[in-house]
Amino acid sequence: MAAQNNAPLPDGLEIAGYRIVKKIASGGFSIVYLASDEDGNAVAIKEYLPSSLALRQQGELVPAISPENLPVYRIGLKCFFEEGRALARISHPNVVSVINFFRANETVYMVMAYESGRSLQEHILRRRDKGEKPLVSERFIRRMFNQVMNGLREVHTNKLLHLDLKPANIYLRLDGTPILLDFGAARQTLKTDLPKLYPMYTPGFAAPELYVKNGNLGPWTDIYSIGASIFACMVGAPPQPSDQRKNGDKMDVHYRKLEGLYSEELIEVVRWCLKIDPLERPQSVFALQKALVTAQPQPKKELSFVEKATLKINALFARKKDIKDSTTIQEHTLN
Ligand SMILES: Nc1ncnc2c1ncn2[C@@H]1O[C@H](COP(=O)(O)OP(=O)(O)O)[C@@H](O)[C@H]1O
Ligand SMILES: [Mg+2]
Repeated sequence: MAAQNNAPLPDGLEIAGYRIVKKIASGGFSIVYLASDEDGNAVAIKEYLPSSLALRQQGELVPAISPENLPVYRIGLKCFFEEGRALARISHPNVVSVINFFRANETVYMVMAYESGRSLQEHILRRRDKGEKPLVSERFIRRMFNQVMNGLREVHTNKLLHLDLKPANIYLRLDGTPILLDFGAARQTLKTDLPKLYPMYTPGFAAPELYVKNGNLGPWTDIYSIGASIFACMVGAPPQPSDQRKNGDKMDVHYRKLEGLYSEELIEVVRWCLKIDPLERPQSVFALQKALVTAQPQPKKELSFVEKATLKINALFARKKDIKDSTTIQEHTLN
């Protein structure tokens, strides 16, 4: 993808009844603006503008697209529009709410409810900078991802896959509720066979079947990314990219480092989601949610008086034996 900076729409511009306040973010495929509607409500507007296909100069509104890029640009435009339409049908507290769609400047705009907060990625990085251990608490992970999965279930029910789940695309409202953002890669409906526009998948979060042509995509593909996102919350970095894991899997070393910080049960669930073989992963979000509820950390058993006394006596004997052993070792070393 060519690194290229497209000029954003100017602040204050009136477009389809909205007023652009400022640019919030820009990525390879789009620019996101904070804007206000006719009643003064804050909205977020996402503009389709893939930087590898379209170029917009400062002071212009319509991007220039070279004739050889035009067919792919149009396919992307159609898909962006279709996705938005599908998303607009979804109304769920954990999925970004799409309010409107309009065409202008030879591109498409998606109007969403504006959310204040920050991405899970920013949240993780802040905690990592502060040196928090564990990075994100197990309680937070379980509660937050359960809500993320409620949203994802709704997406799958609507025959859509997200395909770009990662902490940067999970947004945390100020009260901590997560919402799924950025369905930019959800170009693959579960049923139809639309031409694929390969987006830039983020290494570490993308399932192995996304790296191959005609890979078997399904809910399990998003489930891999859920596992990878939970892993990122625990470690502060993404897992080893799945294409590299095929020629030397280092994940076991990382799982071992998490022992003691997180319950074995949670680590086991992450391991399950991150299986290379799609068939070995949870096959539906519901199955994964059920497993997370079942796989609760085992409470430490309260010991009886007799058990405590026995443990103490055993420890005492062990110490005596240790002292004896260490004397022996010292004697050996001295000799
Ligand atoms: N509905 C929204 N409300 C507030 N901010 C948003 C909204 N949608 C997107 N953003 C901001 O824009 C950024 C990029 O949005 P995203 O949809 O992930 O696009 P990209 O394709 O550039 O990654 C987000 O990280 C967030 O900061
Ligand atoms: Mg994004």
